[in-house]
Amino acid sequence: MTERKGKNLILLGAPGSGKGTQAAKLTGLLGIPSVSTGDIFRENIARGTALGKEAKAYMDRGELVPDAIVIAIALERIDEADCREGFLLDGFPRTTEQADALERHLTAAGRAIDRVFLMDVPTEELVRRISGRRVCKDCGASYHVTNIPPAREGFCDLCGGALRKRGDDEEETVRNRIEVYNANTAPLVAYYDEKKLLSRINGMTTGPDVVFEEIRKALRA
Ligand code: AP5
Ligand code: MG
Repeated sequence: MTERKGKNLILLGAPGSGKGTQAAKLTGLLGIPSVSTGDIFRENIARGTALGKEAKAYMDRGELVPDAIVIAIALERIDEADCREGFLLDGFPRTTEQADALERHLTAAGRAIDRVFLMDVPTEELVRRISGRRVCKDCGASYHVTNIPPAREGFCDLCGGALRKRGDDEEETVRNRIEVYNANTAPLVAYYDEKKLLSRINGMTTGPDVVFEEIRKALRA
């Protein structure tokens, strides 16, 4: 069976739960863009913009960028032409205020969220995954030193760029990001469950392809 286009989807989950990894696979499958607020901030940091400078201070501490900033950026992005047939949100919304703003915005445009996938992974595994993560400095592709190694150590399979650790992936910052997730973002699980939009995905299975298969099943359900 083929999956339908025109889906407005959310990937919800703690830092390191595999949102970015699955987003890359899902956009290929569904032909819809992935919108990652974290990636938007990292691109702005790389370009040295005022937004990047402001976001970096929060990101380096593992804290959330203030709602007013994130909401404006995310809603503007999903209004772009390439999101008209659907979009996959990775890392947004992350607070109830962000979720409410998203809903108001979509409702006003006669649109709605179709499904929310919760990437379910225990905390210790999150820390292990993030500490082994390496990302391509050129195209942003994500690897793991043991779980998902590149063919040539230190270099991206896709573009040959050098792999490096992300700035906010030191263990102390990671633990803070997980605490921030539990305090601010975990309430969105109940929020979307009550709206009957939530699909729980076991993110602990043996590898990204198995997790992807679970998401595909949930999409067809
Ligand atoms: P963001 O970039 O969104 O980071 P995050 O939510 O902390 O999540 P990560 O990107 O670390 O993990 P992931 O779930 O994408 O996992 P991945 O697929 O890479 O946000 C960064 C910061 O920006 C925030 O802290 C905040 O400051 C700010 N921000 C962003 N959005 C915001 C918002 N809405 N509001 C306020 N502030 C915001 O996988 C992790 C590792 O595991 C990789 O190495 C991967 O290869 C490996 N892996 C993946 N899947 C598997 C598997 N199934 N088995 C084994 N290994 C796997
Ligand atoms: Mg990510």
